[in-house]
Amino acid sequence: MDLRKKIRNIPDFPKPGIMFRDITPLLACPDSFREAIKQIADQYRGRKIDAIAAAEARGFIFAAPLALELNASFVPVRKPGKLPFDTQAFHYELEYGVDTLEIHTDAFQEGEQVLLVDDLLATGGTMNACVKLIEQAGAEVVGCAFAIELSFLNGREILAPHECFSLLTYDGED
Ligand code: PRP
Ligand code: MG
Repeated sequence: MDLRKKIRNIPDFPKPGIMFRDITPLLACPDSFREAIKQIADQYRGRKIDAIAAAEARGFIFAAPLALELNASFVPVRKPGKLPFDTQAFHYELEYGVDTLEIHTDAFQEGEQVLLVDDLLATGGTMNACVKLIEQAGAEVVGCAFAIELSFLNGREILAPHECFSLLTYDGED
């Protein structure tokens, strides 16, 4: 099954010069979506993974089924003001301005092994913020898994030495 065929390429979205990799055709096909989750899960079976954490919104799409598949808990990482209990935050720099992600203070036990998941690795800024949040919470990052990696943006480098896995890699426009 060629999962790449289920990614729709949309030129000039959200702005000119950007090729958007649209995952909705993959999500629309249960066999493809299931296969994508299985292939990501296969990378981690047999490893100790207590929790899967992911940033809203698109990270949740892959992380929730993966948590069930790997029998791990699911921890949502959210934009500010969304979580109802006590939270801890991580602030990070964007091209223009600052962004924040939050988790509940009781999201992890000390030393828990956490796999981080997102739909896309671009610059790595989002995933790096998630890594910092997990470490700040006293848990340990086992790895970072993605459905899609835009390798020409070198996001992997800012995540090093954390191990990254991506199902589909794009090294340019094609
Ligand atoms: C997208 C994508 C990743 C992130 C990747 O999220 O879902 O989380 O960008 O880019 P980066 O590696 O440069 O950080 P976005 O912020 O668009 O929000 P969404 O998931 O809510 O759609
Ligand atoms: Mg996202």
